[in-house]
Amino acid sequence: MMIGCRVSDSSSMASAFTAKLISVSLLLLVFLFTFPSVSESNNLFCDAGSGYGEQSCGIHSTSSSKILIKGGTVVNAHHLEIADVYVEDGSIAAVKPNIKVGDDVKVLDATGKYVMPGGIDPHTHLAMEFMGTETIDDFFSGQAAALAGGTTMHIDFVIPVNGSLTAGFEAYKKKAKMSCMDYGFHMAITKWDEVVSKEMEVMVKEKGINSFKFFMAYKGSFMINDELLLEGFKRCKSLGALAMVHAENGDAVFEGQKRMIELGITGPEGHALSRPPLLEGEATARAIRLAKFVNTPLYVVHVMSIDAMEEIAKARKSGQRVIGEPVVSGLVLDDSWLWSSDFLTAAKYVMSPPIRSSGHDKALQGALVTGILQLVGTDHCTFNSTQKAFGIDDFRKIPNGVNGIEERMHLVWDIMVESGKISVMDYVRITSSECARIFNLYPRKGAILVGSDADIIILNPNSSLEITAKSHHSRSDTNVYEGRRGKGKVEVTIAGGRVVWANDELNIVPGSGKYIEMTPFNYLFDGIEKADENYLSSFQAPVKRFKSST
Ligand SMILES: *[C@@H]1O[C@H](CO)[C@@H](O)[C@H](O)[C@H]1NC(C)=O
Ligand SMILES: *[C@@H]1O[C@H](CO)[C@@H](O)[C@H](O)[C@H]1NC(C)=O
Ligand SMILES: *[C@@H]1O[C@H](CO)[C@@H](O)[C@H](O)[C@H]1NC(C)=O
Ligand SMILES: [Zn+2]
Repeated sequence: MMIGCRVSDSSSMASAFTAKLISVSLLLLVFLFTFPSVSESNNLFCDAGSGYGEQSCGIHSTSSSKILIKGGTVVNAHHLEIADVYVEDGSIAAVKPNIKVGDDVKVLDATGKYVMPGGIDPHTHLAMEFMGTETIDDFFSGQAAALAGGTTMHIDFVIPVNGSLTAGFEAYKKKAKMSCMDYGFHMAITKWDEVVSKEMEVMVKEKGINSFKFFMAYKGSFMINDELLLEGFKRCKSLGALAMVHAENGDAVFEGQKRMIELGITGPEGHALSRPPLLEGEATARAIRLAKFVNTPLYVVHVMSIDAMEEIAKARKSGQRVIGEPVVSGLVLDDSWLWSSDFLTAAKYVMSPPIRSSGHDKALQGALVTGILQLVGTDHCTFNSTQKAFGIDDFRKIPNGVNGIEERMHLVWDIMVESGKISVMDYVRITSSECARIFNLYPRKGAILVGSDADIIILNPNSSLEITAKSHHSRSDTNVYEGRRGKGKVEVTIAGGRVVWANDELNIVPGSGKYIEMTPFNYLFDGIEKADENYLSSFQAPVKRFKSST
């Protein structure tokens, strides 16, 4: 039976839990048809109508099967146990030892392997128009790559169209039509006026967006100044939305680029030289202090340098709510490739902030271990060789961005767990659970718990793999991790209750991915009001003064 859009809404949390209570499926269907609005529309795009037929909308009932994962080590961020996991109708129905099931259930043996929540990538750019071109991975190819690498959800950045958030949201809705896994949106803010301020409210209250990113870099295009950054932070605070920043000093970067061109340094190494770590440190410090002044939580995206990381460490030590997100490229690569004599080799490593010299990578890994940084993203923003060649004569024209959505789970496992730096539970925390908490998705996402979405991976710690552009699933002809080998391999990915990756093969359905609406006021906002009250009452002001009687 093919179930249309409205019923596919039933895979949302509320009704998924309801399903546990009502065992007679007929009763359940009656319930759903009678109260379609009970399940908050989590598939907003289905309701949007035009062009969204049954074929490409929500999960088909025929494709959600019953699955038993037997004997694996089930890992959550808070706990680890050997247990079976039973999946039905797209969500986790039971987690306990020795679950008995009938013949109609697909059984996967996970003995000796880890059963973990699918990865959530907090930072991607699929089908993004940038620097005169568009990223080579769209929502389908990018998500296919993600699923093959054990990531089952990502949060992409909507870029406004001519500054309009609504137009941007509509455009991304279309881009995401062919999704094969769940996804959410952050919204970038690229200019500031009253209209944008009003649209932010619409995005939060009606469109399921709970975070906004501000650019302190890209002078002349996305960059906004401190005055507008303050306005944006205030607005975020009042809406309970998380403020995110791309922290580099855009004016100084502009100056640095001019300096390199004047020196005749026009190749990819000029990119790194023009925007050194201190400019990232300066902007990170400034954003942190302005967020403190406003008293709103801050999320620093792609922390690439020791300079930025230490500003976050200092703020967190003082009690400020700052989240730091390193990305895989910053954790495992260094800038040496940028000096390659082959332009295309060097150009594929160009991203902003730049990949830093050796030493920054290890320091960022350490910061993840100690909790100074909390979760790992990718900034997956892929351009192929033809696109990278746009900047053959001028590094300023090389489209910025590297791959990572497929490699993140494997590389983080290899450098953090296999190396002995963190526990398997901490691995789950930094690749999935913490992201779910920050964006108010937990425990629907980021956990192997009864009632959670069945987004699950099975990782074999004894298998190994080699990363290469020949076998990856991105559309790019290159891979910045080319030739890298690692231990630990995601052998099975289950997304929305379906096995989508097994035996090195993808089995994905365009349109089966759901838009996940995210609500404001995450845990970082708890107590903000009380802190504001205490701050105000500490003023002992205004002081009452008598008018002098002269
Ligand atoms: C991996 O190796 C360990 C140690 O030799 C072993 O205990 C475990 O069962 C192995 N797992 C698999 C899936 O082979
Ligand atoms: C953006 O604005 C420019 C100039 O006002 C206009 O030419 C262009 O068509 C607009 N783009 C979109 C996508 O609306
Ligand atoms: C890069 O992508 C463009 C656009 O899809 C395509 O025309 C070009 O052939 C690709 N280049 C390579 C080297 O794959
Ligand atoms: Zn980005």
